[in-house]
Formats: sequence, C-alpha cells, structure tokens
Amino acid sequence: MRQQVLFYLKIFAGIYVMALGIATITVPTYFSNILGLLSVMSYILSLIPGILKVILPSAKKNTVLIALLKHRRFLGVAAFMLALNHGALQFIKENINLLESSTYIHYFQGLTMMVIMTILAATSSDESVKAFKKNWKKIHKLTYLIIFLLPWHIVDKMSNHWTFVTPIALLLSTILLSLFLFRFYKERQATIAKYLS
Ligand code: HEM
Repeated sequence: MRQQVLFYLKIFAGIYVMALGIATITVPTYFSNILGLLSVMSYILSLIPGILKVILPSAKKNTVLIALLKHRRFLGVAAFMLALNHGALQFIKENINLLESSTYIHYFQGLTMMVIMTILAATSSDESVKAFKKNWKKIHKLTYLIIFLLPWHIVDKMSNHWTFVTPIALLLSTILLSLFLFRFYKERQATIAKYLS
C-alpha cells in the first residue's frame, strides 16, 4: 500500500514538473492553463474504461483499459489535485473574491466542478464505499455533471483569447461528451430491447 502511494506520488510529481517545464519553454503565465488541461486529461482517463465497456464491449480485455481501470482512483484524485491547483492559480491571477456574489455567477461552472471533484475525492476511499453503501454510487454519479460543465467552462472562460491549450482541451472535452451521450443512447436501447423481449 505504502509503495503504491509512493508510486502515485512520483507519477504526480512527474506530471507537475512536466507542466512547469512546458510552461517555462512556452508562456510561463499559461502554467495554470496547462494544469487545467492535465486535469481534463486525467479526468477523461478515469472515465474512459466505464464508457468504453458499454459502447465497445470487445475492448474489455484491452490491456490499456485494464490498467486504466486498476488506477482509476488515482486518476480521479490526480484530476482533482490538478484542478485545485489550476483554480487556485486562477484565483490569484484574476484576483477573484469569494465574498462577492458576482463571483459565483461568473465562475459558476469552475466552482461547481471543483465542489463535485472535492466530494468525489473525499469519498474515494474503501471506507467511504462501505460507509455510504448503495448511496456511494449515487454520489459518484455527480461526476457526469462535469462532462457537461467542462466544455461550457472552457468556451465561456476562453472566448476571444484562445491559448495553445484551448483547442486541445475543447477537442478532448467534446469527444468525452460525445462518447458519454453515445453510451447513454446504447444503454437506453438495451433497456428498450429488454422490455420488448
Ligand atoms: C475553482 C474553480 C475554477 C476556476 C476559478 C477556474 C477558472 C478559470 C479561468 C479564469 C480560466 C480562463 C483562463 C485564461 O483566461 O487564461 C479557466 C480556463 C480553463 N479551465 Fe478552469 N477554473 C476552475 C476549475 C476548473 C476545473 C475543475 C477544470 C478541469 C476539470 C478546469 C479546466 C480549465 C481549462 C481546460 C481551461 C482552458 C485553458 C486554456 O484554454 O488555456 N477549470 N479556468
């Protein structure tokens, strides 16, 4: 267990240093943007196995998918930590004041995603799964709200001043949204077919 945590910490430190490196050699003030993108990537990797299991059942035995499934919890927590870093830096960069009510309107999507990610990360342990029983799955369904909030956040916050991060983040979040909707459609079809048979 301790070794696994150390392994995860090393990976996370590596990702963080990589983000710093990319920002240093490109535009240093984009560091928070790069952290936002890495959070998106980690979040997507944590969801992909569950989505592909439904839309592409033959991929179940794929070794990459099995590895992603095994490290799903780490990917989710990493997405949370990277987003927290991104959000904190944006707070400093944009001088965001939590005591002003307009902040909650202007940063609605970012703050909502952050609250959801905090709940998910705080309840990601085995102890939480046991404590919440059936409700655990219901709580973790909150993750699907992020799929809709994410592209909205990027389009809204980056309008008229795209960075090199924006097209990648937008493309990835649109692919995720499409895959999620396709999964929903497939599940609906399967339910109807079961009902009719
Ligand atoms: C407290 C929560 C958050 C705040 C205050 C916040 C704030 C911001 C702001 C102000 C921007 C525009 C940056 C700029 O103009 O250069 C931005 C962009 C972005 N945010 Fe957030 N955000 C939050 C949460 C999140 C979360 C949870 C994610 C990912 C899951 C995320 C991912 C992104 C991405 C990918 C961009 C686009 C960066 C680019 O295209 O350069 N944000 N955010």
